[in-house]
Amino acid sequence: MKVTVNTPNKTYDIIIDKLPQITIDSKVAIITNPKVSGLHINYLTNKLKAKELHIITLPDGEEYKNWQSIEYALDRLFDAKFDRNSTLIAFGGGVIGDMTGFAASIFLRGIKFIQIPTTLLAMVDSSVGGKTGINNKYGKNLIGSFYQPEAVYIDTHFLSTLDKREFAAGMAEIIKMAVMFDKEFFENIKKGNLTLEEMIKRSVELKAEVVNQDEKEKGIRSVLNYGHTFGHVIENLTNYKTYLHGEAVAIGMIMANELSRELGLLSEKEAKEIKELLEKHNLPTDFKIDDVDDFYNHFFLDKKTADNKIKFIIPEKIGQYKIVKDLDENLVKKVLKKFER
Ligand SMILES: NC(=O)c1ccc[n+]([C@@H]2O[C@H](COP(=O)([O-])OP(=O)(O)OC[C@H]3O[C@@H](n4cnc5c(N)ncnc54)[C@H](O)[C@@H]3O)[C@@H](O)[C@H]2O)c1
Ligand SMILES: [Zn+2]
Repeated sequence: MKVTVNTPNKTYDIIIDKLPQITIDSKVAIITNPKVSGLHINYLTNKLKAKELHIITLPDGEEYKNWQSIEYALDRLFDAKFDRNSTLIAFGGGVIGDMTGFAASIFLRGIKFIQIPTTLLAMVDSSVGGKTGINNKYGKNLIGSFYQPEAVYIDTHFLSTLDKREFAAGMAEIIKMAVMFDKEFFENIKKGNLTLEEMIKRSVELKAEVVNQDEKEKGIRSVLNYGHTFGHVIENLTNYKTYLHGEAVAIGMIMANELSRELGLLSEKEAKEIKELLEKHNLPTDFKIDDVDDFYNHFFLDKKTADNKIKFIIPEKIGQYKIVKDLDENLVKKVLKKFER
C-alpha cells in the first residue's frame, strides 16, 4: 500500500508494507535509541545496503528530545565525515523521528532523511507531514523546522513489541482522524472491519491530504488538533507523567465533544459513539478538573493560541469538523465545569 505526499517543495511516498530491501549509494546513519535498537536493529540492517553504515544511539525519552541530543548526533556525523549526499534514517518513535528530521534539516543546511517509524503514533502521525523539532525549557516542539523526508516506510512488524498503552495512544490519533474527516472510516473501525494496515493507511491518507493542502499549518492542518487544545492542558497539569500524549488527547476529544454539544452541534448519540470507541481501544475518557479557572488559563500557554484567542476544533458530527473561535469565556467554563471534581 502506498500513499503519496505532495508538498510544494517535495513529493514522496509512504510505503505501508513489509520493509523492502533498501539500497542507498551514500553514507547512511541510522538514528535510534537503545530500546528500539535492542529489539529491531538487525531486522533493519538485514534489509539495508549503504556505502557506509553508522548507528547513532540517543537516550530514550521525551526528556532527551533536546539540543544536547541534536548536538551529539551532529558531532557523530562530522566525526564520520558525512557530506551533502549522506542520508539519515530515523528509526524509532516520534521522539527519534522529530529529532532526526530536525538534525537532517540543519546538518550542512539540509541532507536527506528517511522515516522508519516503530510506534503506532509515529506511523500514523509524527512521521507524516514533515514537522520536526525539539523541546526546550520554554515548551515542547518550540524549536524545529518543516522538513519533509525522502520516504516513509511503515512496517507493522515493529508493533509486535510495543507496549499496550503506547499502542492505544496511537489509536487515539487514528480515531481523531476518523471523527474529523471520515464517517465511513469511523464506522469501519467501530465494526472491526479493518486490518491494522488498512487503518494506518486510511489515517495516513487523511493526514497526507491535509498536509498537501496546508503544509505549514496556516489553515486546515490545525484540524489535526482536535482533542489537543484540551489535551495539552491535561498533559501540562499532570506534569506529562500521568498520561501518554494520545491518552490526554482522548480525554481532550471528549471535552471538545462536550463543547460541541453545548453549542448545539454534535448529537448525544454520536458523542456516545465516540466515547465508546475510545474506551473500546483502552483509552481514558474521564478527567477531574480541580480548578476550572486555572484549567482555562492554561489554554493561553499553548503556542497555538495566537493573539490570545483560543481556537477549538470540534466535530459538528462524525466525519465533519468545525473550527470555532472567539467563544465566550463563560461558555467554555460551563463546559469545563461538567468535568469538575
Ligand atoms: N512531527 C509531528 O507531526 C508529530 C506529531 C505527533 C507527535 N509528535 C512527537 O512525537 C513524540 C511522541 O512519539 P511516540 O509516541 O512515538 O513516543 P516515543 O518516541 O517516546 O516512543 C514511545 C516509547 O516506545 C518505545 N518504542 C518505540 N518503538 C518501539 C517498539 N517497536 N517496540 C517497543 N518499544 C518501542 C520508545 O523507545 C519509547 O520508550 C512527541 O515528542 C511528540 O511531540 C510529532
Ligand atoms: Zn497528537
